[in-house]
Amino acid sequence: MGIYINKEDKTYTLTTNNSMYQIKVDKYGILEHTYYGEKMDYMDMSYSVKCEGASFSPTFAGAERWEDSYNHKAQELSCAGIGDFRLTAVGVRNTDGSFGCEPRFVSYEIKEGKYSLNGLPAFYGDNAQTLIVTLKDKVYDIYFHLYYGVFEEYDLITRSLIIENKTEGKINLEKAMTLTLDLPASKTYDMLYFHGRHTRERMMERATIKHSQLTVESMRGASSHMENPFVVVCDKNANEEYGNTWGIGLVYSGNFKISAEKNLQEKTRIVAGINPENFNYEVLPNDSFVCPEVAMIYSNSGFAQMSNNFHKAIRNNLCRGQYKNAQRPVLINNWEGTYFNFNADKLVAMAKDAKELGVELFVMDDGWFGKRDDDHSGLGDWTPNEKKLQGTLSSLAKRINDLDMKFGIWFEPECISEDSDLYRAHPDYAFKMPSRVPQTSRNQYVLDFSRSEVVDNIYNQLVNVLDNANISYVKWDFNRHITDLYSVALPAERQGEVYHRYILGLYSLLERITTKYPNILFESCSGGGGRFDMGMLHYMPQVWTSDNSDAIDRLKIQYGTSFAYPVSTMGAHVSTCPNHQNARITPLKTRGNVAYFGTYGLELDVTKMTSEEKEEIKRQIKEFKKYYELIQRGDYYRLISPFTPEESLHCVWETVKPDGTEALVCAVRYETDACTAPEYARVKGLIKDKWYRINGSEEKYLGSALMNTGFKLDYIFDIYPSKLYHITLA
Ligand code: DGJ
Repeated sequence: MGIYINKEDKTYTLTTNNSMYQIKVDKYGILEHTYYGEKMDYMDMSYSVKCEGASFSPTFAGAERWEDSYNHKAQELSCAGIGDFRLTAVGVRNTDGSFGCEPRFVSYEIKEGKYSLNGLPAFYGDNAQTLIVTLKDKVYDIYFHLYYGVFEEYDLITRSLIIENKTEGKINLEKAMTLTLDLPASKTYDMLYFHGRHTRERMMERATIKHSQLTVESMRGASSHMENPFVVVCDKNANEEYGNTWGIGLVYSGNFKISAEKNLQEKTRIVAGINPENFNYEVLPNDSFVCPEVAMIYSNSGFAQMSNNFHKAIRNNLCRGQYKNAQRPVLINNWEGTYFNFNADKLVAMAKDAKELGVELFVMDDGWFGKRDDDHSGLGDWTPNEKKLQGTLSSLAKRINDLDMKFGIWFEPECISEDSDLYRAHPDYAFKMPSRVPQTSRNQYVLDFSRSEVVDNIYNQLVNVLDNANISYVKWDFNRHITDLYSVALPAERQGEVYHRYILGLYSLLERITTKYPNILFESCSGGGGRFDMGMLHYMPQVWTSDNSDAIDRLKIQYGTSFAYPVSTMGAHVSTCPNHQNARITPLKTRGNVAYFGTYGLELDVTKMTSEEKEEIKRQIKEFKKYYELIQRGDYYRLISPFTPEESLHCVWETVKPDGTEALVCAVRYETDACTAPEYARVKGLIKDKWYRINGSEEKYLGSALMNTGFKLDYIFDIYPSKLYHITLA
């Protein structure tokens, strides 16, 4: 059904396979949000958002009832400054200095296909429809264009907002968040969010949305390891397979904020968008501001359905380029194998051994350029260090290619070391405040990408490298967050634009580079998973999930990441033991099994492995390839959480063919106990009345039995054991 407009009711109803979203122009011309939830037959749902009385809520001018207050209305676009004291999305400082806007309906338009956003990443595709609703302030010529994208098959509804200044003076946006969402009914909801830190990203936490604000945000200039720009709002009793669930993610990589609160009418409001702190954007006459996209997926049956829809939408309609759905090469990265201590001969020796195991791509990480033997210097000078490379970069690429392997390379284009030629020539290229000594983080500064000449300089340097050697893969790293924010290119009163302009500069560089090199596989990284967001995924189809590749810590990291992001986007490597991040020793098999549910690669010095270990890696690469399609494109289910050791000693997950004919379950025992009770895993997505075998077993199991009672997990007498269970039709 897509977009349905009922002219009599003045409702706009967006319908997907399982969800419905409705807005309505009320008698005052205010755009109300009347419904977002389970799909149903058409009905004007405005009865459910009628303004009820409450004192200390001002009545807006021209209202027929005293209860009609901006403070009660379920507004589709909430503005600050005009009597809505709840969470609001937009704050406009008008030319005359007054603060506030009262948007009223002007017009609408429907378009086939999905809208795109100038300069910002967004979902795309012909398999969608677009609705644009235009509002205008009651007084000033300030227009608000609300954009909606409807992807029926994924239950995905996207939203963006363009604020256009048609007045004769400049206006200032003091807040330009994209989303206001008033959830239906006076209910109490929970929020799942994904916090963390370096080497411990996307730890799932669950909290109840109460009357004080519940906020996840970043003010680090990047989406960050600490919070992810994605939340799940759900019924209090919702779980993987039950309950109203709304997944809400931002297609943005910079400072963000997602806040929720229960307000005075006991309704839950959510706002999401660019973080308003240290944000102030000047919009000149006839100019406009584009707010980043918000992606929302509703499920009436819990988290798994929501996650699977995000996975498909991200894979097919957010990621781009030839690799978005293609099989990625198995890679080896030298970082943990050598750190900065390598030369070409060492790399070639590693590549040679790796090739014999079935590895297809060799990635040279940090340290190949400028003066860079540790992390104190060199960033900004993207000139190969020919002494270390024992020749040109091209000659090293050739040595790797001669082994019948692809060659890849690491960059950190957004940062600069004080000890670099670029800094000596252009100290103003780095963010620094006029009279303060700038702070370092990992001994480096961040480049002012709000300036096009800085972006151009780095673009030219990257092109120079990429044009002069046969490079098939790029790892794009970013190893600090932004402090000392100040751009010499903008006047004092416009410094509040810099954070966002930085991200626009980054996106413009990514767009140019990825367009120029369509055959290169790009992997995003930010000290591991510090910028794992839908914005970066529009340019690069995979992200280094975490610098922590310990198989047991990864259970929680990959579990949390999977709520929004598909397996195909999660960079996952087998590394050495004791693990470099936490000193844990785990079986090589378990490290492999966990990395299968990501991109699978190696991050160790393969020349130091025993022949037994090498045989195991050889076996893993074969096994990974055998299951590649099933793992990467199957439906993904979190069966047993790694956060509940009191319920199970295992973390278990599954990928199943959408037609239910084949599944692969992975179980990792992360806790140990003596005399354990038998544990069962209940599988999902099989065909109820078909018979299955597990790992070719003699016994046959009915699909219903495997889904209702489950199968018994093998007890393996080892530390951190794991096992794959391949479930096939009998
Ligand atoms: C941080 C990344 O996450 C690592 O994998 C590695 O590339 C280092 N940076 C290199 O400096």
